Amino acid sequence: MGRVLEVDDIDVYYGELQALWEVSLHIEEGEFISLVGSNGAGKTTTLRTISGILTPRRGKIIFAGKDVTGWPPHRIAQEGLAHIPEGRQLFPRLTVLENLKMGAYTPKAREHFDETLEFVFTLFPRLKERRDQIAGTMSGGERQMLAIARGLMLRPKLLMLDEPSLGLAPKLVQRVMDTLRRLHEEGLTILLVEQNVRYALELADRGYVLETGRVVMEGGGRELLEDPRIKKAYLGL
Ligand SMILES: Nc1ncnc2c1ncn2[C@@H]1O[C@H](COP(=O)(O)OP(=O)(O)OP(=O)(O)O)[C@@H](O)[C@H]1O
Ligand SMILES: [Mg+2]
Repeated sequence: MGRVLEVDDIDVYYGELQALWEVSLHIEEGEFISLVGSNGAGKTTTLRTISGILTPRRGKIIFAGKDVTGWPPHRIAQEGLAHIPEGRQLFPRLTVLENLKMGAYTPKAREHFDETLEFVFTLFPRLKERRDQIAGTMSGGERQMLAIARGLMLRPKLLMLDEPSLGLAPKLVQRVMDTLRRLHEEGLTILLVEQNVRYALELADRGYVLETGRVVMEGGGRELLEDPRIKKAYLGL
C-alpha cells in the first residue's frame, strides 16, 4: 500500500485573490476520502489544483510518487488521475459509447479498453442499453452515471469527483453513492467533494473539512459525523 496523493501546504490564488491557505492532505492507496465544507470554502479549487488546472503559488503536489506541481492537466491525467468536474462535462453531441472511448485516452487505458468497458457496463447496465444514444439527450442522472463511467475508462489510480449528486433526485443520489461504495470495495481510491455531508462522511474512511480556504478538521468519517461541531454546522442537528 503506497501513498497515492500528497498535497503539501499549498497556497492557491485566482489572480491576486487568495483561495487556499496552507492546505495539506494525503490519500493512501484504496482509501475513500471526502472533502466537505460550505459554499465557497475552496473544495473545487483544491480539486482543480490537484489536477493541474490551477498551479499553487506555494507548496507541492505529489501524485503516484511524482512531484507533479506545475504539470499541465493532461500529463497528470496520464499518470492516472481522473477528475470528474462539477457539472459533469461530457461531449453532448457524441454517443454514450463515443464518450466512453474519449475517456480511455492513455495507452494503458486503450490497451484494456474492452475489459474496462465490460466492467463499466456491468456497473451501469443503463449505459449499455443506451450506448448509441446522444449523451446530451440523456437525463441528469444518466449523464452523471456516464461522467463517472468515462472517468473509470481511464483506469485511474485516483478518481476525484466534484459534487456528483448535484441536481439529482434523492433516489438517484442514493444510486450514485451506492456506486461509489461499490467501487471503493473493489479497491478504487476515491476523493469525493460533496455538499451532502452525511453521505460523504458515511462513505469515507477519512474526511477533511475546509472552511474559507483552510483545512480546519480532519479525521475518520464516522468520527467526524459524531463531532458536535460537524453536527451543528453541516448536519443541522
Ligand atoms: N475563477 C475564479 N475567479 C476568482 N475567484 C474564484 C474563482 N473560482 C472560485 N473563486 C473563489 O474561490 C473561493 C473558493 O471557491 P470554490 O469554487 O473552490 O469553492 P467550493 O468549496 O467548491 O464551493 P461550492 O460548494 O459552492 O462549490 C470562493 O471564494 C470563490 O468565490
Ligand atoms: Mg465547488
